[in-house]
Amino acid sequence: MTPLLLLRLLCLLSLAATAAALPADFTTILAAKSALSDPASALVVWDPRLSRSPCRWPHLLCSDRSPAVASLLLSNLSLAGTFPSPLCSLESLAHLDLSYNSLTGPLPPCLAALPSLTHLDLAGNEFSGQVPGSYGAGFPSLATLSLAGNVLSGAFPGFLFDVTTLEELLLAYNPFAPSALPENVSGLTSLRVLWLSGCGLVGEIPPSIGSLGSLVNLDLSTNNLTGEIPSSIRRLENVVQIELYSNRLTGSVPEGLGALKRLQFLDASMNRLSGEIPADLFHAPSLESLHLYQNDLSGRMPATLGQAPALVDLRLFTNRLVGELPPEFGKKCPLQFLDLSDNRISGRIPAALCSAGKLEQLLILNNELFGPIPPELGQCRTLTRVRLPNNRLSGPVPPDMWGLPHLYLLELVGNKLSGTLDPIIAMAKNLSQLLISDNGFTGALPAQIGALPALFELSAANNMFSGPLPASLAEVSTLGRLDLRNNSLSGEVPRGVRRWQKLTQLDLANNRLTGTIPPGLGELPVLNSLDMSNNELIGDVPVQLENLKLSLLNLSNNRLTGALPPLLSGSMYRDSFVGNPALWRDTCPSGRRARTGRRGLVGSVTSILAVAGVVLLLVVAWFCYTSYRRQHSGHAAEPRGGGRDGSSRPRWLLTSFHKVEFDEDDIMSCLDEDNVVGMGAAGKVYKAVLGGGGEDAVVAVKKLWGDEGKAAESTGKDSFDAEVATLGRIRHKNIVKLWCCIRSGDCRLLVYEYVSNGSLGDLLHGGKSGLLDWPARHRIMVDAAEGLAYLHHDCAPPIVHRDVKSNNILLDAELGAKVADFGVARIIGNGPAAVTAIAGSCGYIAPEYSYTLRVTQKSDVYSFGVVMLELVTGKKPIGEELGDKDLVRWVHGGIERDGLDSVLDPGLAGASKDDMVTVLHVALLCTSSLPINRPSMKTVVKLLVEAAPPSPESMPKAAEQRPLDV
Ligand SMILES: *[C@@H]1O[C@H](CO)[C@@H](O)[C@H](O)[C@H]1NC(C)=O
Ligand SMILES: *[C@@H]1O[C@H](CO)[C@@H](O)[C@H](O)[C@H]1NC(C)=O
Ligand SMILES: *[C@@H]1O[C@H](CO)[C@@H](O)[C@H](O)[C@H]1NC(C)=O
Repeated sequence: MTPLLLLRLLCLLSLAATAAALPADFTTILAAKSALSDPASALVVWDPRLSRSPCRWPHLLCSDRSPAVASLLLSNLSLAGTFPSPLCSLESLAHLDLSYNSLTGPLPPCLAALPSLTHLDLAGNEFSGQVPGSYGAGFPSLATLSLAGNVLSGAFPGFLFDVTTLEELLLAYNPFAPSALPENVSGLTSLRVLWLSGCGLVGEIPPSIGSLGSLVNLDLSTNNLTGEIPSSIRRLENVVQIELYSNRLTGSVPEGLGALKRLQFLDASMNRLSGEIPADLFHAPSLESLHLYQNDLSGRMPATLGQAPALVDLRLFTNRLVGELPPEFGKKCPLQFLDLSDNRISGRIPAALCSAGKLEQLLILNNELFGPIPPELGQCRTLTRVRLPNNRLSGPVPPDMWGLPHLYLLELVGNKLSGTLDPIIAMAKNLSQLLISDNGFTGALPAQIGALPALFELSAANNMFSGPLPASLAEVSTLGRLDLRNNSLSGEVPRGVRRWQKLTQLDLANNRLTGTIPPGLGELPVLNSLDMSNNELIGDVPVQLENLKLSLLNLSNNRLTGALPPLLSGSMYRDSFVGNPALWRDTCPSGRRARTGRRGLVGSVTSILAVAGVVLLLVVAWFCYTSYRRQHSGHAAEPRGGGRDGSSRPRWLLTSFHKVEFDEDDIMSCLDEDNVVGMGAAGKVYKAVLGGGGEDAVVAVKKLWGDEGKAAESTGKDSFDAEVATLGRIRHKNIVKLWCCIRSGDCRLLVYEYVSNGSLGDLLHGGKSGLLDWPARHRIMVDAAEGLAYLHHDCAPPIVHRDVKSNNILLDAELGAKVADFGVARIIGNGPAAVTAIAGSCGYIAPEYSYTLRVTQKSDVYSFGVVMLELVTGKKPIGEELGDKDLVRWVHGGIERDGLDSVLDPGLAGASKDDMVTVLHVALLCTSSLPINRPSMKTVVKLLVEAAPPSPESMPKAAEQRPLDV
């Protein structure tokens, strides 16, 4: 026997000896440990060789009397595998928490026999199959049972209502087969929490629910419950929260709820409730939040609303409510949020709404309010969003209201308001959107508008504003939309408009503007729509406007003169310059010379600038090239990671995954702020043009620095490297290549293939969507879906992207799509536990994330469904035009109200309609609220390929195959 073998044997023997000395419960949990997959090594410390007092091991507590295990607290440790059945022999186990791991397989029937178990939490795993029948008969002392957020199927386990010791029963978000609640649920006399959202419940809510005298929290939301809300719920005298939203409940809101002393939250929104709101409801002494929106409620607002003592949040939008609001509403309650939009409420806005000094959001869109906006609202300094469009409000806006310090959105469009825009607006430091079109405002636009640091949109069309455009307006570099159409503005368009780097829409049509068109307009990088028709503008059309890629250009009906710049002379702009008698179209090449003559100065300045640009480019290229040469000649032998000049510069270490022609210094020398091409949650992205001529001559460098870099550091070098190496190994035509990773200290650079046409999001929503016809959009979807399917199904272990969105789908020169930034959210987070920090982007996040805090392949599928919806509808995932909804809810609402066709992108030709509808169905499937109902990415690819529009080539090909006519 070799010494080495002997040593091994001794080790084994000593391990066996220590294990044998352990109390039985610990031998059991070691068996459970070895049955589990523990990729995060959370349980390595359970080891008798490391600690001889197992009661001090982490994640467990012993009972007082003997060294027996009483509590196992194993939540959120990335554990995987099936349920470790040895745990069923822990006789003293009282508390078992395995929530938020990745456990699969069936629920173990043996648990029901544990005599001491009082608390069982298996939420947020992937347990499947039916709930074992033994669960209804066993569990002698169980108080808490949570199975929420798994993939349990079969009939809803009504038999759990026989476990009479239960105080908390949480089964929400499991794909049970449609089932009714048991007729009699009154046995659970101790039940405090009943959480059954998203359980596939159908039928009526049993009246016996009113006998659950201890109930504090009742949540039956997001099911398909029908019938009326049983009036017996008014007997739930301990209830604090009742959630019934998103069902198909009919009938009226029962009377008597006002007597519920502890009721704080009542939500029955998104049902089919009708009738009037019962007057006594507002007597409920603790009622803070009442949501009854999107129902069919009618009748007048009860006068008792004015007496509600605790109301903070009232949302009754999209009903058929009429009548006036009680004038004292707000005097007695600390109101913060009020949304009564889309009703037919008339009368005046109550002056007392903000009496408590708390009101933040006031939304009464599309009603029949009249009279003035009460001056008291001008003193309501807490307001952040005020939306009162499409009412019949009149009189001036209280002057102080313009200057509210936290106000972000002020929307008063479509009323009969008059008076002026007060200079006090200078105080509105947070104002982003000022939307006051379609009113009767007069006077000049105050110069103070130019001092607003956050102004993004100013829409004041169809008013009677007069006087000049304040020169200060050109200073507002945050401006994205400026619409002053159809006023009586005069004077010149301010110079200095180059600062409008974010401006997409400029509409100054139908005014009395004079002077010339500022050439600087040609330098606005994202300008998409420019309308200055029907003014009194003179002079040339600046040649700089040729730089713009506009979907709308209208300079008609002015007094412009001279020759049109050649690129603007095409038929595309036929209607852009009508009504300018002294302007001539010049299509022959000699026209260019003539123009140069007339525009000598501008022309030569432009060419000087152009030459200077070329020289600068050459200098940069030379710089990159020489540093490249230096690396590849004199210093080629120097070890990677060594500082080039021996100074105190940090040492860089390059790990490459592909054969690359550059090194860390080449990259570093190109990380200039001028080369920044993007900014993401993870850090800055640079475009680096390198010396070599190969495929990798241009690369994108993502710099993870600061907090993100530090987070990566604390993940541990090894796990960061391992993650990055996994990503680096991926090779797929629809996935952006990760060339290499460079790091030093807490700074990390990820070097990617450069994809030339930018992101799908920018192209689609940046006003260039015209470039994307339906076949192009369809191809992009198939490409991106294939990339994601590869990550999910062909990589081992599978890679979850975690941040699928249109901005992470890049387009190459042929509009081929490549998925970018996969897995980055994970490597910059702190392991699985900190995925909470970054998991997706607004509008793309799957609903289960809110209760599981975990992202899976199915969360990617959801996000990809949102991207498909963007391509089908042309809309952003969230945004003003969707109202307060996200795109998924907006699409559902639109389809329900106006049919499938109503949500399709109106910009696309009607010919593709059928294909678009097919894809819309796939997208809806992907965005199902339950993960189990979403198809896998593989299936998505298949469904998309089947929905392919006929390719233009397919027709001649078919003709070729036809037998020749002889
Ligand atoms: C500005 O408005 C936004 C959006 O309502 C809000 O989140 C933010 O807190 C406001 N900031 C200030 C300083 O009022
Ligand atoms: C122009 O604005 C006035 C109000 O100032 C309005 O009455 C008129 O309808 C508007 N014209 C158009 C075409 O919208
Ligand atoms: C520009 O405006 C004029 C007059 O308002 C209109 O006749 C013309 O069709 C418009 N052109 C374009 C391209 O919209």
